[in-house]
Amino acid sequence: MNQDKIIDGNLIANAIKEELKSETEKLKKEKGITPGLAFILVGNNPASQIYVRNKGKACEELGYYSITKVLPENITENELISLIDDFNKDEKIHGILVQLPLPPHISETKIIEAIDYKKDVDGFHPQNIGRLVAGKECFYPCTPYGIIELLKRSNINTIGKTATIIGRSNIVGKPLANLLLRKEINCTVTVCHSATKDIKQFTLNSDIIVVAMGKPEFLKADMINEGCVIIDVGINRIPDSTRKSGYRIVGDVDYKNCYDKSFKITPVPGGVGPMTIAMLMKNTLLSAKGKIQF
Ligand code: GUN
Repeated sequence: MNQDKIIDGNLIANAIKEELKSETEKLKKEKGITPGLAFILVGNNPASQIYVRNKGKACEELGYYSITKVLPENITENELISLIDDFNKDEKIHGILVQLPLPPHISETKIIEAIDYKKDVDGFHPQNIGRLVAGKECFYPCTPYGIIELLKRSNINTIGKTATIIGRSNIVGKPLANLLLRKEINCTVTVCHSATKDIKQFTLNSDIIVVAMGKPEFLKADMINEGCVIIDVGINRIPDSTRKSGYRIVGDVDYKNCYDKSFKITPVPGGVGPMTIAMLMKNTLLSAKGKIQF
């Protein structure tokens, strides 16, 4: 198997984290600034607990200051906003991350809007979204930012290429479409979604295909062109009686069959996944350095 085809997200994420670690040491030594990230976790969703724990571990590895506030499920919207406000004012904190989803009695929109957009390292605040669409400097949402880094660091030429994104979420599909449209990337972008009539007609004509729809092994070999680049954002559990756990993780791409036809492809796990935390760390360092010119 030609290993050069595989875009190794672990390898690239580790390289980014090493860069961030040495930049952090330099920032501390030269400016006396330690990047600081605040996590807010509401309730006891097990997946959210794991995500927040892993993000906290990354802070430790890189030498960042971090603080995690775990709040009860029944906290009021106003109490949560008041806590966010404290972090907005706290000079040690350069990034604030409220782990989603939130309980149904709390408006995610209101909470995201309560975060100072200059500390919105998730890139979910309307100021950042608006600036992203307008092609201005801003925090890029971490998963789409990670995908751009995977393409760049794999030396994939994107200029003038056709890109199809399957999935129009606010976290992945929509921001990624806007990043791929930026002048320095310069793709021609199509976004497919649940009402798209014939997805294959778009993927067959694409140089780059990003699948972020949450359907196990949706993208089949007969839907792609020889030599395309495939980015798989899916993380799906499917039953597997040969595993002790009784399941295995697959992406949104039929990896085994698409592998041969592709020029480059991301595996699941070990592709896009590890990049999300790396880019969160990157955004936090950019914030600590005051690098984003709002
Ligand atoms: N929940 C799932 N993904 C994310 C993310 O990227 N950021 C936040 N804050 N919550 C999430």
